[in-house]
Amino acid sequence: MSAEDTISDAAGAMSADRFVEISYDDIIPNNVALGADKQLQRALETWRPNYLGWWNNMGPLGYQTSDVYLRTAVGVDPGGWAKFGFVQMPSYRWGILLAPKVEGRTIPFGRHKGEPAWQEVPGEHRALLRRLIVVQGDTEPASVEQQRFLGATAPSLYDMRNLFQVNVEEGRHLWAMVYLLVKYFGKDGREEAQALLERQSGQMDNPRILGAFNERTPDWLSFFMFTFFTDRDGKMQLAALAESGFDPLSRTCRFMLTEEAHHMFVGETGVQRTIEATCAAMVKAGVKDPHDVEAVRKLGVVDLPLLQRKANFHASVTRDLFGSEISSNAAEAFSAGIKGRFNEANLKGDDHVLTDATYPVTRVVDGKLVVEQAPALRALNARLLDDFIVDCQGGIDRWNRSIEKAGIDFKFTQPHKGFNRRIGEFAGARISPAGEALTEEEWKANSGDWLPNDADMQFISSLMKPCHEPGKFASWIAPPRVGVNNQPGDFEYVKIA
Ligand SMILES: [Fe+2]
Ligand SMILES: [Fe+2]
Repeated sequence: MSAEDTISDAAGAMSADRFVEISYDDIIPNNVALGADKQLQRALETWRPNYLGWWNNMGPLGYQTSDVYLRTAVGVDPGGWAKFGFVQMPSYRWGILLAPKVEGRTIPFGRHKGEPAWQEVPGEHRALLRRLIVVQGDTEPASVEQQRFLGATAPSLYDMRNLFQVNVEEGRHLWAMVYLLVKYFGKDGREEAQALLERQSGQMDNPRILGAFNERTPDWLSFFMFTFFTDRDGKMQLAALAESGFDPLSRTCRFMLTEEAHHMFVGETGVQRTIEATCAAMVKAGVKDPHDVEAVRKLGVVDLPLLQRKANFHASVTRDLFGSEISSNAAEAFSAGIKGRFNEANLKGDDHVLTDATYPVTRVVDGKLVVEQAPALRALNARLLDDFIVDCQGGIDRWNRSIEKAGIDFKFTQPHKGFNRRIGEFAGARISPAGEALTEEEWKANSGDWLPNDADMQFISSLMKPCHEPGKFASWIAPPRVGVNNQPGDFEYVKIA
């Protein structure tokens, strides 16, 4: 069955659903009645070939004519929103899907709290709202660009398929933001939509907006760490925007979160499977000391201290994405009702306006770390970062359980908030993973133990040999416990053409 058939089947099956009026007949599948707004439809159809041009030039290198077993969003009903089938990536149906409208929804926070949610852009907050949508939109194609070269070294067809799934969904997230820009921001929005295709990750003259999205993702360990940490920043930001008083943004982000969960799953289980392969090889060879790096690397697996250094790097670079801990922009976005806190509407214990509230923020004062009570409104980035760190811990605990089960004495920890930071309270300070303020000399003497060093990166790159045979996996990574959509272990997820 072709991808087209699969999808029109799904559209047929979904049409009875009371939530969903999704149109897959349109060039751009959507549940926003695009056909009824000819001007918007034309603007998006004009942007589409530029998007496809970007995908072909900057998206996954190679494999564009291979059939890939992908999930396509076909609706927004939590029980049946996706359909699996073989698709060639350039034919993926990138659609515009918003979570269902909640009747009577009110703005849950800020100075407009309790007023009906906005269905149109509030004029006074137009510039701020546009900026937030552009910054979010910019991260989506950036990560596809960063991951462009990974297909060739995929450790299995299962992993290759997961990479491409993440890539097409980041493409869909770009569509989601572009829809908002083009529909609600007129000519400015159309220009921003074009600029989103022109900035390029890591490019000197016209880079992506945020630092972490200009870093390289040179290998699969980086990819798994990226999807564990950096896609989780995406989750936190989307969750904060899902609380927005601007209802179309809220509904867009709510649906994007469904897909984001899978990206973090790919990251968490990717690292977990790497750990499992390491522990299994160590046990089999009788290597007890996880710090006996030479003995472990000889087994063709990644030593655990190296994984800790990779985690330190990706955690710290991702934390910079939250921006300055103390931020008047964040205060304004909150008071204006544009961007809430994580889980805002369900938070108990304050008034959701925060005029008089405080929040503890760790700062560097005279070379020492101190915790100060800051006005809660200005400390919203600090709070979202703290929520992120808590959210990371669940996955890290699961990693540690695998190591414990194998009887190996090693435990992953998150580095201190101030470790290796370039933005915010800790920029310019030297803080160890344990949270001690250091001199520049102390930092230089030790940072090679805390962050991936040249030898680490060379070793990782030596492991990046493709394994493209169905059911087979590279030495350094264990097979998954379950296949995608319960497919058997030897399923051919990518039919390499
Ligand atoms: Fe995304
Ligand atoms: Fe993502």
